[in-house]
Amino acid sequence: MTDSLRILVTGAAGLVGAEVTARLAAAGHRVTALVHRNPALVRNDGTPLETGAVTCLSGDVTKPRLGLPEATYRELAAGGLDRIVHCAAITDFGLPDEIYQAVNVDGTAHVIELARAGGIPLVHVGTAYVCGERDGSIAETELDEGQRLANAYEDSKFRAETLVHKAQGDGVRAAIVRPSIVVGDERTGVVRDYKNIYVVLRLTTEGRVRSLPGQYEARLDLVPVDYVADVITEVTHRFEEAAGRTFHAVGAPLTLRDFSDVLAEYPPFQVPRFVPATSFDVARLPRRERSYHERVITLYESYFRRRMSFDDAHTAGFTTRRAPGNAQDFLRVLIDHCLESGYLGRSPADVTEAPDRPDAPGPGATSAGNGAGPAGSVRNGAGR
Ligand SMILES: NC(=O)c1ccc[n+]([C@@H]2O[C@H](COP(=O)([O-])OP(=O)(O)OC[C@H]3O[C@@H](n4cnc5c(N)ncnc54)[C@H](OP(=O)(O)O)[C@@H]3O)[C@@H](O)[C@H]2O)c1
Repeated sequence: MTDSLRILVTGAAGLVGAEVTARLAAAGHRVTALVHRNPALVRNDGTPLETGAVTCLSGDVTKPRLGLPEATYRELAAGGLDRIVHCAAITDFGLPDEIYQAVNVDGTAHVIELARAGGIPLVHVGTAYVCGERDGSIAETELDEGQRLANAYEDSKFRAETLVHKAQGDGVRAAIVRPSIVVGDERTGVVRDYKNIYVVLRLTTEGRVRSLPGQYEARLDLVPVDYVADVITEVTHRFEEAAGRTFHAVGAPLTLRDFSDVLAEYPPFQVPRFVPATSFDVARLPRRERSYHERVITLYESYFRRRMSFDDAHTAGFTTRRAPGNAQDFLRVLIDHCLESGYLGRSPADVTEAPDRPDAPGPGATSAGNGAGPAGSVRNGAGR
């Protein structure tokens, strides 16, 4: 086992942060968890982290000194830490630009300041989607290729990563891990927070959204949260080998055709139709579908036309841990769990008769289960 390190994890109560915190604490490190509004450290499977394993500090990365009392900050900066793992971010879509600026960009600047002040190695968690709307193979060595960023979240993560690179040039030692779209556990499909792609999955399979602008050749990249946490943890442990490098923590790309084929295996599901953007006309959608489109689908639309694939040569050469190789099988695991948990599976008849629900997912919504029991977890035809 590695020597016990003193590690600050920002965003420690988040989906990824809690899994990283749990792994580092289990490895015997002394972990300080920076928490914000939600102080509960709960693992992806719902298990609370053992009290005593981790010290919690309440802070806010948007503030100077991470919002910590001066004495606490001074202590951390004056030799109190061996690593910082920066997971804190705003990950919901559709929020005002200034929120992404404050948390994702200024927050990263404040974390870099601490790293610089204390000479502390920094593991920055970015996103593979800093590639924006580029197509083709995306290398871990690439950042600014003149790409168009699809939304304020991507733009802020791009600028945050640019700050990390600049700080590296000024002597801050850093490594970057870039996950793609983080979803449930590789084996069980369990996920703590049904956000982002899950909201789209529910709206489409329930038949609320029947057509979307997109191309069947476009690719989604879904990566299990446990794999992402394993990569971040290993980069943190083996920082001396990882320093100065960027690691894609990504899955196998899944075309929208493969995605649709898997959905079609499930009897309760409506399978959405992807229509080329040039012939997609929002105005012709039924009133309720138009409303879902305008409130939710527009936030994710660009992910249905991208044809990128993430090269993860650095990660593959660094760790023996491998992400799921078969994206369709992994999608089945995710869907089976959604059905078992009741998040998915309302029959189209229920949906047609139901009035607009007050909990209908909106921008950035973390949708809870819909209360209806699973409508079945048996797929049509094809086995895994
Ligand atoms: N989830 C994904 O699909 C995905 C994909 C690629 C990359 N990533 C990156 O992975 C990292 C972790 O993401 P995640 O999925 O774990 O996100 P998450 O579940 O939304 O967690 C984000 C954490 O950041 C904290 N935070 C927000 N504002 C803060 C502030 N002002 N000060 C301190 N902490 C603050 C949140 O605390 P409160 O809730 O208490 O405010 C939360 O614990 C992020 O850098 C994200 O950009 C995520």
